[in-house]
Amino acid sequence: MTKLNDIYRCNVCGNMVEIIKEGLGESISCCNQEMELLEERQLDVGPEKHIPIIEKDGEKIIVKMGEVPHPMEEEHYICFVELFVGDKIYRETLEVGDDPKAVFEVCADIDDVKAREYCSIHGLWHS
Ligand SMILES: [Fe+2]
Repeated sequence: MTKLNDIYRCNVCGNMVEIIKEGLGESISCCNQEMELLEERQLDVGPEKHIPIIEKDGEKIIVKMGEVPHPMEEEHYICFVELFVGDKIYRETLEVGDDPKAVFEVCADIDDVKAREYCSIHGLWHS
């Protein structure tokens, strides 16, 4: 069974989907094969470049990757950042050459939010 907000990737074409409503299905397919369920990481290769750092700046929440700035090059970059605030999710797509950060105009207590990001090589990471 799928789980709310799980992210699946097709390892053939690169499609990615996020579960916005849980269903009873056991798997999701693309390109005639099962998509990979991405696990959120906090350990592995280079946590200092991948674990999202959440900061508050007035009415904004800034998410940086990470303590050491992550590369934003064609072959290796942060593709998107998500901010979870209660039952709401905010997402910013990043492009090659951008700063490895996202700014969300959200008024929330920093202790009540969670962030996750997806690196084109090292996968999904959470704060
Ligand atoms: Fe990476």
